[in-house]
Amino acid sequence: MIDGQTQLYRARDLIRKASRIVAFSGAGVSTESGLADFRSQGGLWERYRIVTFQEFLAGHENRVEYWSMRRELIPGLLAARPNPAHYALAKLEQAGQLRCVITQNIDGLHQAAGSQRVIELHGTNMTASCLSCHSQWPIAEIQQRLEAGDLDPHCIACHGLIKPDTVSFGQAMPVEAMEDAYQEAAACDLLLMIGSSLEVQPANQFPLVAHQRGANLIFINRTATSYDHLAAVSFAGSAGGVLATLVE
Ligand code: APR
Repeated sequence: MIDGQTQLYRARDLIRKASRIVAFSGAGVSTESGLADFRSQGGLWERYRIVTFQEFLAGHENRVEYWSMRRELIPGLLAARPNPAHYALAKLEQAGQLRCVITQNIDGLHQAAGSQRVIELHGTNMTASCLSCHSQWPIAEIQQRLEAGDLDPHCIACHGLIKPDTVSFGQAMPVEAMEDAYQEAAACDLLLMIGSSLEVQPANQFPLVAHQRGANLIFINRTATSYDHLAAVSFAGSAGGVLATLVE
């Protein structure tokens, strides 16, 4: 195990020498903004059942369960602000070194920190749409309906089902986002993987795509992943602290 200082030097050297850096982020990049991740102790999947897209479509009770989770989470999502990890990536992009952030997150915090090119593999929780006529609302408006007792909101225009613009388990991945992410991962020479357990397919393929095409990988993740052996440098530390140090 190389010591922390050597790791920092090696990571800084890789960043300095890289010409096309891509970041790949998961929920761990937003925990320092106060948002729980999914699989750490106390994470969301310890507290809520995953409602698949098929279950959401199939029944009122499933949608009431789905929306009761969202009703609890949306206020925290709307109150969350970017943390040093988000700002460090935006700074790297503004310096012309980072091409884009490929994110699994649905919290909009990369954009709020100033990142211009963010590829959202799992959509966004900041808006919701009618699954029939595609009318769209800011999530705060749906939250008001939930808090007023509308437990399974339907479209006021066509009475279709309303769902956040996220990708649920069982729902098709966004084709354009997946294609963009593949192109960027395949063309980069350095990929920064920040705050993901890399357990969910197909999102977890992108660090592998970059590695297979010869890119170096830097991992910043509190806990081990199944792909740590591919990383040129890996930090088992906090995304905010490590990224701010790397980019300063
Ligand atoms: N700094 C660094 N790493 C962190 C931090 C932090 N401050 N906080 C958490 N982590 C790490 C955890 O150790 C964990 O390995 O981030 C990782 C988060 O993993 P998950 O909770 O599995 O989140 P993620 O990988 O984004 O999940 C992928 O699963 O449920 C679906 O759609 C959901 O997009 C999500 C996908």
